[in-house]
Amino acid sequence: MRLAAQLRHEAVAHGKVNLHLGVGDARPDGYHELTTVFQSLALADRMSVSVCEGTAGVASLSVAGADADKVPTDSSNLVWRAAELAGASQALDVRIDKGIPVAGGMAGGSADSAAMLRIMAALNGLDDAQLEEIAAQLGSDVPFTLHGGTMLGTGRGEKLEPLPTSGEYHWVLAVSSEGLSTPKVFATLDELRETNPELPRAGAVDALADALLTGDPEQVAPHLANDLQAAAVELRPGLQDILDAGIQAGALNGIVSGSGPTCAFLCRDATHAEQVAARLRAEKVVDAIYTTHGPVAGAHLITNES
Ligand code: C5P
Repeated sequence: MRLAAQLRHEAVAHGKVNLHLGVGDARPDGYHELTTVFQSLALADRMSVSVCEGTAGVASLSVAGADADKVPTDSSNLVWRAAELAGASQALDVRIDKGIPVAGGMAGGSADSAAMLRIMAALNGLDDAQLEEIAAQLGSDVPFTLHGGTMLGTGRGEKLEPLPTSGEYHWVLAVSSEGLSTPKVFATLDELRETNPELPRAGAVDALADALLTGDPEQVAPHLANDLQAAAVELRPGLQDILDAGIQAGALNGIVSGSGPTCAFLCRDATHAEQVAARLRAEKVVDAIYTTHGPVAGAHLITNES
């Protein structure tokens, strides 16, 4: 019993929203050059990993919570690969309690793999440089979910620098029960740009970066921008109705989060966010509504019972 308690680790994996997501042209490797501003959100998954008997690596993976049935529990789950790439030397029993919408454009899967890396660092003694290298191999959003806060991301989104901000930003999230495929959303944007080269682009981040220094959501709101939004709305036209409903409900502004389909509405403060959420719930235009805030930390351990 004592041994089991010693070797259990728990971690928190935070979701994210992109305040700015500028997408460049497709690169030869299929990825797109991004200029993005990430903000980590309080909305989170919890992960528990216990060392068990068996072959080194993930021995079992179970998922509970909202949308649990949509999360793969085999080696296609990014958590599995995170354990492998981090050189798991023991058999691991992994449990994830989902709080982040699945396939919702909020980096839930990436955050889980970042939480797994934090646990692997505790188990195997990896340093930050090693974690960062593995994170970039796992996926474009994994390095950010490892760090959290507010960061400017370039390259695939994996090259990060902290962006100074002040204040707390309160969000209402409108979650659709059916996710969107990220590669499909990027491909749809390429097609839209081919047929309409004049399609507006998110442009530079400077105005948003200046507004974030004020700590005033009213100043930040007009600068929210996401190039993937047009593609997400093309694939799921109902998203425009949800975006319109959020503004009608009093939000300062609304955007599709990442590749969608979650829509994120910026509000003045926590009370305002609850009011907007209540109005949106009454409209019944969306499957689920959450309130949350950012920026918060990245993936981190919450207990280490050694
Ligand atoms: O890096 P990740 O595996 O999360 O990316 C998922 C997919 O999203 C990629 O296969 C690619 O189709 C698309 N993507 C992209 N450009 C990026 C990031 C992701 O085209 N910068």
